[in-house]
Amino acid sequence: MFDLVIHNGHIITASDVLPPSVYIGVKNGVIQTMTTEILQGKKVIDAQGALITPGGIDSHVHLDQDNAPTGDNFESGSRSAVAGGNTTILPFAIQPKGEYDFQKVVDDYHKRASVGSYCDYGFHLIVSDPTTESLQQLSQMIAKEGITSIKVYTTYPRYKLNDSQLLELLLETRKLEMTTMIHAENSDVIDFINGKLQEKKMTGTYYHSVSRPLEAEDEASYRVISLAKVIDVPILIVHMSSETALSHVESAQRNLVPIYAETCPQYLFLTSDYLKQGCCHHKGHGEDPFEGAKYVCSPPLRQSQSELDGVWRSIQNGTVTVFSSDHAPSQYDNPKGKKLGLVDGLPHYKQIPNGLPGIETRLPLLFCYGVETGRITPQKFVELCSTNPAKIYGLSDRKGTIGIGYDADFTIWYPKGEMKEFILDNEMLHHDIDYSPFEGMKFTNWPRYTILRGQVAWDRDNGGVVNKLGDGNYLKRGPSTLAGPMKEINPILA
Ligand SMILES: *[C@@H]1O[C@H](CO)[C@@H](O)[C@H](O)[C@H]1NC(C)=O
Ligand SMILES: *[C@@H]1O[C@H](CO)[C@@H](O)[C@H](O)[C@H]1NC(C)=O
Ligand SMILES: *[C@@H]1O[C@H](CO)[C@@H](O)[C@H](O)[C@H]1NC(C)=O
Repeated sequence: MFDLVIHNGHIITASDVLPPSVYIGVKNGVIQTMTTEILQGKKVIDAQGALITPGGIDSHVHLDQDNAPTGDNFESGSRSAVAGGNTTILPFAIQPKGEYDFQKVVDDYHKRASVGSYCDYGFHLIVSDPTTESLQQLSQMIAKEGITSIKVYTTYPRYKLNDSQLLELLLETRKLEMTTMIHAENSDVIDFINGKLQEKKMTGTYYHSVSRPLEAEDEASYRVISLAKVIDVPILIVHMSSETALSHVESAQRNLVPIYAETCPQYLFLTSDYLKQGCCHHKGHGEDPFEGAKYVCSPPLRQSQSELDGVWRSIQNGTVTVFSSDHAPSQYDNPKGKKLGLVDGLPHYKQIPNGLPGIETRLPLLFCYGVETGRITPQKFVELCSTNPAKIYGLSDRKGTIGIGYDADFTIWYPKGEMKEFILDNEMLHHDIDYSPFEGMKFTNWPRYTILRGQVAWDRDNGGVVNKLGDGNYLKRGPSTLAGPMKEINPILA
């Protein structure tokens, strides 16, 4: 007798589509067997011919950060995650400049997460002040906290590292086999354009996208790839928004240099037109002159549909490694949220908190517009949303695929054409944010069930979020298994 039996669906992994005759038997939260023999369970889910994918791993989310006081906390963020099919999220613990005790930083985030989480979670560490003293503590983060990935920035005064700091840090992460995530935009280009826009009093929301041109991302992406090659260490460039920047990744990959790329739904579905007033299909769009603030994120939304098509192509052709939400929301109608950018009734794009909500819509968007339209295979979907995030962030011994011995984490969809199509309205979502950038879009499918370690966490037709706050566990992670074999290090650097 199993705790849970799932049957009559196509089990999808990054390589295979199994026939609906396969039964999954779950005991103690783990997949115990997969067989064509009929299994009995205390709970049985008939997938009715639909696709069964591994639970989503959203490897790039921002929760309970000081710089976004109106954003989601662990409770609302993780609730929204399970309602969108995610069973694992990786938010950030941030080192403020001048704080050299990483343990203190991480303890503080454990405290923030102690309200409880509906899904499993781990932390990446954002390093903003890499002194010799602080870097020496990274090995302790790995051993004690299972934190095996860090994120750094080439932009934003409060986080930015210069090239020599990046090189020192990469040398250390190479030694420790940590995954390094990099936000790549040239901050001098951005500062320069900001200055020119300010002189001309061009401060409307749309100028946010003007201030951060494609070239700023192209240059910084090429540069960080070069720095990684000097140290011979794998890196992952986060939230890549443009085809030219992605072409640098592709050419590195073609030369067997282990450079990885992440992209996000906003770079597939939204152009910078959304930053203007009166654009687009969204409910109410056109009445509020400040509405463009809802779409302020960095890198910014790009100018044209052909840019979006380029990012789709690099998903299809294998350049993109992981698909995350970069869920980094602020409430819109809140003086401490996006409205910080409305000063005496006038828009000031530079004061608008950056970031969009997207933790709940990530999987459904790629599923509806990628898998159901035939743009990508279901296997590719699984690879981008579950398997590769598990591999690159040290969870591939437990999560990211459907196989015997793995955590019983699943997203079960509706059989194609069986769900009543709907137009997304923010009211349907489970975050604590008063809008979604994807409102007004049509959805042809949605996770019907999300299952976390054998427990139903989300049952769309019977109760919605049905697991308890606190059912999610903190995950200590191992090293990345996606990093390719490295050459001998240059003896000068050893
Ligand atoms: C990079 O930043 C560090 C720390 O602030 C500083 O000591 C160093 O001089 C900077 N290097 C360059 C090339 O600007
Ligand atoms: C894949 O996509 C990237 C980025 O769009 C592009 O630069 C590259 O030429 C494409 N590669 C192949 C083999 O199609
Ligand atoms: C999982 O998280 C991703 C990233 O936030 C999000 O885009 C996606 O909609 C979510 N998927 C599910 C099924 O929750």
